[in-house]
Amino acid sequence: MPRHFRDVDDLSPAELETVLDTAADLKHSLDRGEFETHLSNRTLAMLFEKPSTRTRVSFETGMTQLGGHAIFLGPEDVGLDGREPIADLSRSISRYADAIMTRLFDHAQLEAFCEHATVPVVNGLTDDAHPCQTLADLLTIREHLDSDSSIAWIGDGNNVARSFVVGCGMVGLDLTVCTPEEYAIDEGVLDRARKFGGTIEETSDPREAAAGAEAVYTDVWVSMGQGNEREAKLAVFREGEFQVNADLLDSDTQVLHCLPAHRGKEITEGVLESDRALVWEQAENRLHAQKGLLTVLLDAI
Ligand code: CP
Ligand code: NVA
Repeated sequence: MPRHFRDVDDLSPAELETVLDTAADLKHSLDRGEFETHLSNRTLAMLFEKPSTRTRVSFETGMTQLGGHAIFLGPEDVGLDGREPIADLSRSISRYADAIMTRLFDHAQLEAFCEHATVPVVNGLTDDAHPCQTLADLLTIREHLDSDSSIAWIGDGNNVARSFVVGCGMVGLDLTVCTPEEYAIDEGVLDRARKFGGTIEETSDPREAAAGAEAVYTDVWVSMGQGNEREAKLAVFREGEFQVNADLLDSDTQVLHCLPAHRGKEITEGVLESDRALVWEQAENRLHAQKGLLTVLLDAI
């Protein structure tokens, strides 16, 4: 059976450390101008049902840097609207590519794709999870914060939040999750995170969550595919004062955001453009983290 990366806990905590260590090593090599080409002649097929900037460009660039190649397939290229069953897509692409990265809406579709794939499948985001983002987030936290730092998630209990919560549990970070009750992270995800032993608190008060946090992480209030919930969600988040702004934060609190960001909604322009924002480091670390992941999944170390 191939190793799939549907969510961050498809890795063991030790494997997660290996991915992050490999990512850090590859980043240092690149900084020295050295290219590690251990994926030469390997191909990554990338299947996108939703838009993307960082995920697409970081995977494609990463494969080039590792000596391999990436193929971009958008919804029209492969007929994701029903041209053929997802199982047939998965089995066919597996016969050409060495690994497949998918960005699908429905997590059940990802599970179905994985079931039929004969090469590793990497989840590049579903409605339920964004584990590649978590790898970059954990690498960024390692680089910029102490290991005993307190982190607060303030915003929607969405795909990015869910994977991040599990990742924090796996590396033992002290996390406070602050969402409106209507958009809370389901208990099943919190249980998956707590099983690893990390401390995860819950609140729906952004001020309580931000107090004492070394870093605050937020994401959009309305995710891709949630257009019909837009007005209802915006009203709840505004009412609960979930915006990450200078008034909410201590002077030295750092700020994380997976991007794209909506200035004036979940975060202010001033905070996003300030020195406290680690968002560009996070965006860059998508590249290094995914190179580490592909290296491990393809058994290339
Ligand atoms: N953070 C992230 O996944 O960005 P994209 O949607 O642009 O890939
Ligand atoms: N929660 C966002 C993340 C985008 C990277 C979305 O799903 O649209």
